[in-house]
Amino acid sequence: MTATVTSTSAQPAPAGITFPDGFVWGAATASYQIEGAAREDGRGPSIWDTFSRTPGKVYAGHTGDVACDHYHRYADDVALMADLGLAAYRFSVAWPRIQPDGTGPVNVRGLDFYDRLTDELLAKGINPVVTLYHWDLPQTLEDRGGWASRETAEAFAEYAQIVHRRLGDRVATWTTLNEPWCSAYLGYGSGIHAPGVQDPAKAFRAAHHLNLAHGLAARALRSAGAQNISITLNPCQVAPLDPASPADVDAARLIDGVANRIFFDPLLLGKYPSDVLDHIARITDLSFIRDGDEATINAPIDVLGINFYTPSYVRALPGAPGALDYPGSQGIAFRPPVGPVTDMNWQIEPASLTRLLTRIHRDYPGTPLMITENGAAYPDGPGENGEVQDLRRIEYIDAHLRACHDAMAEGVDLRGYFAWSLMDNFEWAEGYAKRFGIVHVDYTTQQRVLKDSAKWYREVIRRNGLE
Ligand code: FCB
Repeated sequence: MTATVTSTSAQPAPAGITFPDGFVWGAATASYQIEGAAREDGRGPSIWDTFSRTPGKVYAGHTGDVACDHYHRYADDVALMADLGLAAYRFSVAWPRIQPDGTGPVNVRGLDFYDRLTDELLAKGINPVVTLYHWDLPQTLEDRGGWASRETAEAFAEYAQIVHRRLGDRVATWTTLNEPWCSAYLGYGSGIHAPGVQDPAKAFRAAHHLNLAHGLAARALRSAGAQNISITLNPCQVAPLDPASPADVDAARLIDGVANRIFFDPLLLGKYPSDVLDHIARITDLSFIRDGDEATINAPIDVLGINFYTPSYVRALPGAPGALDYPGSQGIAFRPPVGPVTDMNWQIEPASLTRLLTRIHRDYPGTPLMITENGAAYPDGPGENGEVQDLRRIEYIDAHLRACHDAMAEGVDLRGYFAWSLMDNFEWAEGYAKRFGIVHVDYTTQQRVLKDSAKWYREVIRRNGLE
């Protein structure tokens, strides 16, 4: 299919839809993006503390030092979630709070925080969905090679067990990693995320060590009794700009390998695809992939988290420099967004989410899916009456929920949906300039205000569907 642009507002009013009983309605956040309290209670520095302090790396020099001050305001934030009727809350644990040096001594005060948060959630009837790694690697581990080093994967499995030992009696769902694509390729390929390295060989080593970290942790968690184990990927829904052009089709296949199959295949099929190995071998030797690693990565999972925001279209363009976050993509050009975009300049195309989910269902059958992130950045803030009218976000989420429903009608086993994000927060390299929350945060007063999208989402949850 060529680039069909779906305008969310130009469609005739869609019919009401209902989701299956038990469909999980949630919202998501991540530790560094909301917690603040960066130097409190024994937390060690993470790569994002270092990166955000490096001039020119993050918009306007913003850092996560204070963020949404969630570390102190978690009880109010959980009350807000309860008011919205969330069935589940996806948050991440900051590794540097638990092991300030990445390995070795455990900082009990760090565990205490997540213990309090978990109890608060359960007291309000909200299911905690824990992500163990959402990008805040302890700086000490980065100093020893970070994800380009195998040691980090082994350290991660140990850290996972420490957190599970403390929370495993109350937390049902354990997600190992959030979006290893970003950690590997934005962290070590383009360097637009921490630790800011630009080295294609390291990017591929990092991708493998992240896969391995997942496998080692998933196995350790399973033997410790965890029953609902997961990982969250952010697949690139990539299509050839001209499906009739064999060169464009090849370009899309290469990007699909580097972005998607490098994670999906060892995880769910127990093997790296041979075309991906050939591709990596053109950039670096493969000795970092050891015998038995693929089997380790292939640890059984119970649910697969999918984050989705925007599609990609590529074409073959001889001489094009390629994209550093898709190492080895010289000669391939990404089409700039067409049609409506969000404040991130991300193209809005809900139908591509349906295509993505049906493709995963077809190529990797048998694993239940969960949308662990989906949402949109828009700058809307409180108007004169204090209300935040973010109609475009409502339209975005509404259209993507319909896309999910369409995929389910085609047989996709989709179990739930988490809006990104519960509240405005530190949007990585964009600092506080991009607002993804359904709850508005005033960073001066730390006041939270439900945007119209939050009120709308509350109704969606209440009726388990769309009007
Ligand atoms: C995802 C991240 C999340 C947030 C959204 C907008 O890639 O997992 O932390 O930044 O994008």
